[in-house]
Amino acid sequence: MPTLLMLLLTACGDHKDSRFADSNTKPQPAPDSWGKQQFVGNCLQCHALNKDRTGPMLAGVWGRWNNDTAKVVAFIKNSQQVIAQDGPKSYSGQLFEKWYKTTMPAFGGLSDSDIKQILNYANAGVE
Ligand code: HEC
Repeated sequence: MPTLLMLLLTACGDHKDSRFADSNTKPQPAPDSWGKQQFVGNCLQCHALNKDRTGPMLAGVWGRWNNDTAKVVAFIKNSQQVIAQDGPKSYSGQLFEKWYKTTMPAFGGLSDSDIKQILNYANAGVE
């Protein structure tokens, strides 16, 4: 066994050889957009772009909020606060009612820019 270990270590050592120096610089496939990555990490468990799931579908979401970017950003950071402030007759109040009062978690850790990028991705509806 120790002999095998030695062989393995020697083999690993070989990869540091200068002949392999360019192995990390090969062209990589373009990464997904930041908005999509953040959507997948934070929102996909409840939302799809083109069909309702635990939460509403998100394609075309800007229009449903009359393009009030600041309001949607505030909603994502703390939906319950916006619903409480705007009241049961407001868009967010009605939405909450329609979704059987399912509370969306607060995303206080996301920046305004991250949220806008997520929603620009989702709004377009292209998966
Ligand atoms: C645990 C489930 C859950 C997660 C995770 C979640 N949501 Fe929601 N979301 C909901 C529910 C339920 C509603 C509808 C009820 C409400 O308005 O509170 C909603 C509503 C919304 C709305 C309003 C949709 C409309 O038609 O006007 C937006 C926008 C939204 N979510 C964006 C997001 C984004 C962005 C993320 C990720 C950062 C996210 N949600 C994560 C459950 C979730």
